[in-house]
Amino acid sequence: MHAVEIKPNIYWVGVNDRSTNLFEGLWPIHEVGVSYNAYLIKDKKNALIDISKEIFSDDFAQELSDLIDLKDLDYIIVNHMEPDHTGALGRLREMAPNAKLLGMQKAVSMMNDFYSLTENTEVVKHEETLSLGKYTLKFLYTPGVHWPETMMTYVPEEKLLFSCDAFGQYGALDGFIFDDECQNVAFFEKEALRYYTNIISAFSRNVLMAIDKISAYPVSIIAPSHGLIWRKDPMHIIELYKTWAGYAQGPAGPGITVLYGSMYRNTERALDQTLQVIGRQQIPIEVFNVGITDPSYYLPSLLTKQGVLIACPTYERAMFPAMVRALNMAEIKDIKHKVAAYFGSFAWSGGAMNVFNGFAERLAWDVVGAYQFAGSAKENDLQQIQQIVEQLAAKARKP
Ligand SMILES: Cc1cc2nc3c(=O)[nH]c(=O)nc-3n(C[C@H](O)[C@H](O)[C@H](O)COP(=O)(O)O)c2cc1C
Ligand SMILES: [Fe+2]
Ligand SMILES: [Fe+2]
Repeated sequence: MHAVEIKPNIYWVGVNDRSTNLFEGLWPIHEVGVSYNAYLIKDKKNALIDISKEIFSDDFAQELSDLIDLKDLDYIIVNHMEPDHTGALGRLREMAPNAKLLGMQKAVSMMNDFYSLTENTEVVKHEETLSLGKYTLKFLYTPGVHWPETMMTYVPEEKLLFSCDAFGQYGALDGFIFDDECQNVAFFEKEALRYYTNIISAFSRNVLMAIDKISAYPVSIIAPSHGLIWRKDPMHIIELYKTWAGYAQGPAGPGITVLYGSMYRNTERALDQTLQVIGRQQIPIEVFNVGITDPSYYLPSLLTKQGVLIACPTYERAMFPAMVRALNMAEIKDIKHKVAAYFGSFAWSGGAMNVFNGFAERLAWDVVGAYQFAGSAKENDLQQIQQIVEQLAAKARKP
């Protein structure tokens, strides 16, 4: 896309990535894409805020060169060093030799670590300001959202916040960049939650601290480094992030996430009957087969619902591996303080239930019950499971 002027002499200079399958080499984005947004301010001094991913160096350099002779670029503001935003820095440095690289202390040392850049760099501090002429930049240190060096850049004259990863979303920008130009904001909100759980939720505490910090500054536009720019109702995306960060600390909303895996359908048949029990409880429910579903898609449900039902068999004296992956991801993403239950089939030793209990303890999940049965579930087994699940539903209904 061409650059878009978002305020007088302030430009969106982003690129759309529709060819990367896995964001961070991990999270599926092949169906939706993603954008890497950067911003150029032309003033007495010219500043670029954030950069781009390495594979887009050519497109990015061209987009910028259409607006400015890069030798006239005075500052490159590095809000965040993750290479989805800085991969094009090497190329840019050659094209813009006069630009000074600004970032928090840790960002400046990462410039050396990642790209061996040591010349013409400068550390900025929390709440330090830099006058560009008409516009001022104010740097707000927001560690942990997403990395320890991450900051946001605020332009008080326009109440404009360049929030970097915070308030971002998956989803390429199909010709529009603003929320009020987009015909399907609900899609971006859904992708914002998936992005939040995949990328940010492990740092939910930091998110709440960052939201607290920025609340001292009036905001009329939020310009993140991924996805839509929020100007119709910027507080809405802040509120969404705040809600999700709160869920990570628990409690979450009413509902049950069912994660299941099954090799020969013994566990699955028992689950199918159990779902009828949950169905009578009038409680939101989402069911995922962890064997065939990427964690990216069930993490949003896990984060936002208070109840978790884990159903899977024993495998090599331990837990069905796809479920280990699921629970390990919940642990990595710090999805704590749920109310949970387990059941599953085994044949001789059992083992999955112990693995479940270990995860539940580390995750501070309140376990209402765990039950294993040999082979296929009999009437008695189903009754036991039913009792557990009724308790789960009762607790997950009113967090
Ligand atoms: C590869 C494999 C490894 C297994 N390892 C164990 C085990 O270590 N201990 C055990 O009690 N059962 C073990 N089982 C048996 C399963 O737990 C049992 O067949 C169970 O009924 C499978 O449930 P499902 O039909 O829901 O897949 C294993 C089964 C398979 C296929
Ligand atoms: Fe990041
Ligand atoms: Fe990012």
